[in-house]
Order: sequence, then structure tokens, then C-alpha cells
Amino acid sequence: MTTPYDRVAYPTTIFTQTNPERLAVLARLAGLDPVPPEQSRILEIGGGNCVNLIAMAAMWPGCDAHGFDLSENAIARGQEIAGAAGLANVTLAVEDICEAHHRYAAGSFDYVIAHGVYAWVPDHVREATMRLAAHVLSDRGVAFISYNAMPGGHVRMIMREMLLDAIGEIDEPEQRIAAVRDFLEDYARARDDDEPLAKTLRQQAENMLLRPDAVLFHDELGPCFHPQRLLDVADVAHANGLIFLTDAGRNRQLDGFLPEGGEVPEDAEGAVLLAASRDDYASLRYFRQSLFVKQVPDRTIDATRIADAWISTRVRRQDDGTFKHGEDVIVITDDALADGLAKVAAIYPHRVPLSSLTEDPALLRVILQLYTEWYVNLHPGPAVFPAKPGDRPCSGALVRGMLALGEATLCTLDHGVLKVEQPELRALLMAADGTRTVEEIAALDTGIPPEDTLAALTASCARALMQA
Ligand SMILES: C[S@@+](CC[C@H](N)C(=O)[O-])C[C@H]1O[C@@H](n2cnc3c(N)ncnc32)[C@H](O)[C@@H]1O
Repeated sequence: MTTPYDRVAYPTTIFTQTNPERLAVLARLAGLDPVPPEQSRILEIGGGNCVNLIAMAAMWPGCDAHGFDLSENAIARGQEIAGAAGLANVTLAVEDICEAHHRYAAGSFDYVIAHGVYAWVPDHVREATMRLAAHVLSDRGVAFISYNAMPGGHVRMIMREMLLDAIGEIDEPEQRIAAVRDFLEDYARARDDDEPLAKTLRQQAENMLLRPDAVLFHDELGPCFHPQRLLDVADVAHANGLIFLTDAGRNRQLDGFLPEGGEVPEDAEGAVLLAASRDDYASLRYFRQSLFVKQVPDRTIDATRIADAWISTRVRRQDDGTFKHGEDVIVITDDALADGLAKVAAIYPHRVPLSSLTEDPALLRVILQLYTEWYVNLHPGPAVFPAKPGDRPCSGALVRGMLALGEATLCTLDHGVLKVEQPELRALLMAADGTRTVEEIAALDTGIPPEDTLAALTASCARALMQA
């Protein structure tokens, strides 16, 4: 069967919010006992080429990663990538969400991920997605389901109507995309008499113009576009035996927790859902990344539950003692904590035990706030990549696999992506396959001067391209 995703490949990439490490930290914050990601069973539903999942399999050789999609081309590409990397712990299949419960046994996955699927499929497939997530999720498991959300989705619907009108009967993908780009460029031009809503839509048109063609083609022009209300999604989850844990998005990770200092209501889940959905009204949010579990979370915020986590951060300390993250300025009033964060930032992407920074519950609460703002990362354990090259340096198996396939953008061992185009660095990473010493690599004709080889390998460790 040829699907629209076979006609135009979707540019699936890494979605850090789906990383089981993040899901595990949030589950632990809710007093649950999630399975350590490195030993877990992971399922990605409608994962496209499943490179998001493949990157997890590369990070954790002890995990068992399964992914499926309806698109034969997408799965074939994923199999090619996993094969080039020689990963034995990833299994990909062409499968339909509606039939997948026959393939995967009940309770057989600790992390279940459906990114960019739920709001882009017909009703019966959406229902099957939640049913499947509930069916395969283990008792200690966490499911991630993202979707276009209401009420912000109404604004997207206005734009979608105009775009569909602009493409009319055009069927050929390239022509559809060209017609949409023409329309958006014209529409994005501001007018003197713009109303606030028109201004918002023009801004949306500008943002859309920045997206890759394939994303425009599928996300905006695909046959299904059904933004969901958080309360409705949670109802469907409930009907399938799942409980809302929280949201995985930036600044939303405490959505599933009660305000501090208040009474614990009898229906704590209902209370947090209502508050979160009111916030959706206030912010006109149009994307949600909801997490679901089977065990009842404790929704009282207790920052000591993150005390045994590991921390990494890329905030930069300024001369005036404040920290910067992008354009955000962060003030840490505790000097010892500020010094500790500066030291952790200096070794990014490496991690240290959070307990080496502080064990003070009040400061752990500060760290938790920094975490929800995505200024720091918390992890259940140490990094899988080394700080320095070993005796026989080895770049990640997926890094080498993607290099061999000629990919410019590589998946790193901290579940990120990095463009590596410099031929000399690509040759060096290929040469560092765990069979050669630094001297032997230096003696090869990679294009990197022999005396710079060790430094280049060390820099590659700092970019999470090398495995231990
Ligand atoms: C918007 S793409 C998202 C892909 C990937 N998860 C990502 O976020 O990049 C939606 C994916 O859902 C898949 N899909 C749609 N209906 C499906 C079904 N019934 N069974 C399996 N996959 C399906 C599509 O083939 C497509 O790869």
C-alpha cells in the first residue's frame, strides 16, 4: 500500500522530549519506579523511519527497541540505517496501528512513544493508538503521546482552510508545496489595517515558510488534521486504563503536579487536568506532549525525589555572575550552587551526580525549576559517552553507520543531532572504530594533522560522538 508518507518522505529526526531518560525522571518525581532506560523495552508507534528510536538503541545496547510505521519506504530507510550501524537491539516493522496489538504482547514495553501521530490520523486510528499504548504499556511504563492541541488548534485550522483553498485540486506533491509557498509568501506580507488575529496568522505564515517542504506537505496539507483538547485525550486514556502523568514539554513538566502548599483534592488528576487545560485556553497552546502511566502518581511536588539524579547543563555564567541560556538570563542567588552549575556547564554534555552539587531540599527545588525551564537536564544515570578517548577510540556505531550512508546530520550519543560535513572529521570518525590506537589513527590519511588527532578525538567526545 502506498501512503502519502511513501510519496514524500517525512524528515523524522530526534525528539529529545521523547527520551526515556526524561520520562523516567518525571515518573520518579511522581514517586513511581520506572524501568531504567538502558535496560528497558521501548516501542515507537508511527515512528516514520524510526531514527528517534534507533538513536536510543545506539545509546543503550541493553535496551530492546521496537518501532513500526505504515510507510514501507520509511521503515526500509530505518532498517538501512540500523543495519549500517550494526544494531542488534532494534526491530522495525511495517505495521498498521489498528493491527499492531496482534504483533506486540500486552504489557511488553516500558516506554511507548507516539510522536506526531495522534492528531494526524482518522478517528478510528486515533482510538487504536491510545488502545495500543494502553495494551503494550507495562505496569511501570510511561507512554508519550503528542498532538496538536485545542484551543490553539483553531488558529491552525483557519490557516489550513486557506492553504487547502490555495492548492485546490492540485495533486502532485511538488506543485502542492509550490502553491502553498506562493500563498504563504503573499499572505505573510503585513498590511496597515491588520487586526490582531490577522497579525497572528501572518506571523504563523512566516513561521510556516521556515519549515521543510515535507513538513508543510504532511503536517499542514495532509488528509487528517484533528487538534485535540487535553481533557478529551485524558478521557480516552482513562477509558483505556491510563492515567495522565504530566506534560513533557518545556515549562509544562509540572502540569501533572499540584500547586505547592495547597490541599490535596480527592480527584487530584481531575484538578491538574483542569488547571492545565485552563492554561491551554489562556495561552492558546497548539501542541501538547502528554505522558500516561498505569500506577497512580503522587502529585505533591517533592524535589528530594530528584536527589539521586545526574545533571548536565549548557547555561553560561556571565561576568556579572548571572547565567545565560539563549536570550534568557538566570539569577542563582546561592553562591555554592552557582559555582557548581558553572562547573557542570564547563563539562557539557557530561554529567555529574546532582548530590555533588547539593542535597539541600530548598536548592533541589531550585534545580527542579531550572529543569522544567529546560535550563538544566536531569538524567537517571551517568552518560554513556566518555569524556576522553580511550586506548582504542571508538565513534558511536550509529555515527559510523550514518557516515557510511553519506548522511550529513548524525545522531549523537546524548540523543541529539549534529551536522558533520568536514571531510577530515568524517574520515577521522570512520577511522576511530575501536580497532586502532590514537597513534594508528594519526598515521592514517584522514586529512587531520597527526599532531591534532588526539585533540580532534577529544572534541568529538565533547560532542557525544564517541562511545565508551
Ligand atoms: C507526521 S508523521 C510522524 C512520524 C514520526 N513519528 C515523527 O514525528 O517524525 C506520522 C506518521 O504516522 C504514520 N502512520 C499514519 N497512520 C498509520 C497507521 N495506521 N499505522 C502506522 N503508522 C501510521 C505515518 O506513516 C507517518 O510516518
